[in-house]
Amino acid sequence: MRHAFAIALGGLALAGSSAHPAVAGDPAAGRKIANMCQTCHGVDGYARIPIAPHIGGEPQAYLEAQLMAFKTGAREHEMMTVVTTSLSAQQISDVAAWYAAHTAVATLPDGVNASDAPSACVSCHGADGISVLLDAPNLAGEVNIYIDTQLKAYRIGKRRHEIMSEISADLTDAEIRAFADWYSNIELKIEPIN
Ligand code: HEC
Ligand code: HEC
Repeated sequence: MRHAFAIALGGLALAGSSAHPAVAGDPAAGRKIANMCQTCHGVDGYARIPIAPHIGGEPQAYLEAQLMAFKTGAREHEMMTVVTTSLSAQQISDVAAWYAAHTAVATLPDGVNASDAPSACVSCHGADGISVLLDAPNLAGEVNIYIDTQLKAYRIGKRRHEIMSEISADLTDAEIRAFADWYSNIELKIEPIN
């Protein structure tokens, strides 16, 4: 529901955000930029290679913040650094708006109960891995190694965020693996834009 609501608000929601007040995203312009992303993330944001995360239906503010972080070097990854170097802030808003306009639908595996979800994570990432915050990502259906790698990056300070750095600092490798497995076992579908 929240994702459908985000579509209706479109760029307006972004214009109201204090983090990026200057530019609003245009999903139609973003669709063209998504051609640069499709070999890895798909045009709809369902990843085509295991090391790339699914990004369709994620909150626009989150997508935009990550793209800006790759561009400025605050978050480092060889592929994404190259991709974002050539993009303007407007293009980043547009492509974030395109991917955010999709709807992510998560389904727990048969016989799995939402009440068994990792309690330390559900208040922000949901039991089913669909984010309940505008600045947090969906985790549903991401490859477990991707989730594992990101949590370890926060833990060692390679990737920084005031909430996630603190949470991951106290996690053991076994906990990280268990949480990664929980979220990666959830089936993700990304619905196309009508
Ligand atoms: C050559 C493959 C490749 C291309 C092309 C590519 N990406 Fe990525 N992208 C990746 C990989 C790999 C990661 C994971 C980086 C990491 O491990 O930190 C990533 C991460 C991201 C993230 C962070 C998602 C999250 O959940 O934190 C966003 C957002 C993103 N890409 C958007 C884009 C957009 C938009 C484009 C096109 C303009 C694009 N990417 C093009 C491979 C690619
Ligand atoms: C209070 C809210 C909150 C809680 C609780 C929380 N997270 Fe997060 N999480 C966030 C936010 C916000 C981000 C985005 C951080 C950034 O911008 O780098 C994030 C990012 C992540 C990422 C990066 C995903 C990606 O696509 O790159 C992973 C993995 C993650 N969280 C896993 C967890 C796990 C596992 C738990 C439980 C142990 C947890 N989080 C608990 C808010 C939270």
